[in-house]
Amino acid sequence: MSDVHSPHGLTIAIDGPAGSGKSTIAKLLARRLGIGYLDTGAMYRSLTLIALESGVDLDDHDAVAALLPSLDLHADSNPDDPHFFVGNREVTSLIRSSIVSEAVAKISTNLLVRAWMVEHQRQRMAEASANGSGMVAEGRDITTVVYPEADLRVLLVASPLARMKRRAKELFGDDSPESLEKVRSQIVDRDAADSTVSEFTNPGPGIELVDTSDLDIEGVLEAVISLLPAGMSGNHN
Ligand code: DC
Repeated sequence: MSDVHSPHGLTIAIDGPAGSGKSTIAKLLARRLGIGYLDTGAMYRSLTLIALESGVDLDDHDAVAALLPSLDLHADSNPDDPHFFVGNREVTSLIRSSIVSEAVAKISTNLLVRAWMVEHQRQRMAEASANGSGMVAEGRDITTVVYPEADLRVLLVASPLARMKRRAKELFGDDSPESLEKVRSQIVDRDAADSTVSEFTNPGPGIELVDTSDLDIEGVLEAVISLLPAGMSGNHN
């Protein structure tokens, strides 16, 4: 898109539940604005992979937290093709495996882990702001805890049904009642687990709410771009 140029050091925080479309939107937004992209869920997923491989008891919060000092996480910030590394090892596809998806809530509800993640995510955002590269970060607590200083903070929501339909289409290519039933627990159970450690259903002061239930991707993107502070979108229309 040529109607938007790179705003210097722009930071955008996007939160939302599973299936709200936040990672798709965050990537498109980063590409459109020419800024970086940070998938904070991938950081929790990477630690989950390492914890599973190390054989540590995932319910033992101290033991999991003991893995953190030597956790060498790298996420490249290219929104077109994000890659994740632990040390020199690429984990991009491994962290999307069902074994990691099923275990990640045990890691992301560990408050020792959260404190470490928040600090690292905050640093990435602050650096992107200071060095002018800019960043869109997405997760559950970015607008509230990680980087409330962001130039734009958005909470993306969608009804559980709309999110189940999206997930079913993604996985099975249709949203028949049978397919919806198969994804119900992925949406409903994950909302329940995630909501024990972060509030991502009601926007706090200064956080913009966008309901994506009845919008397509382009509609959501336009809605978010229209919320950018004056002069930040570079829109020449
Ligand atoms: O968005 P995702 O599915 O990749 O997130 C993986 C898990 O990490 C999910 O249980 C939500 C959790 N998470 C979190 O608690 N805080 C974040 N900032 C990002 C993800």
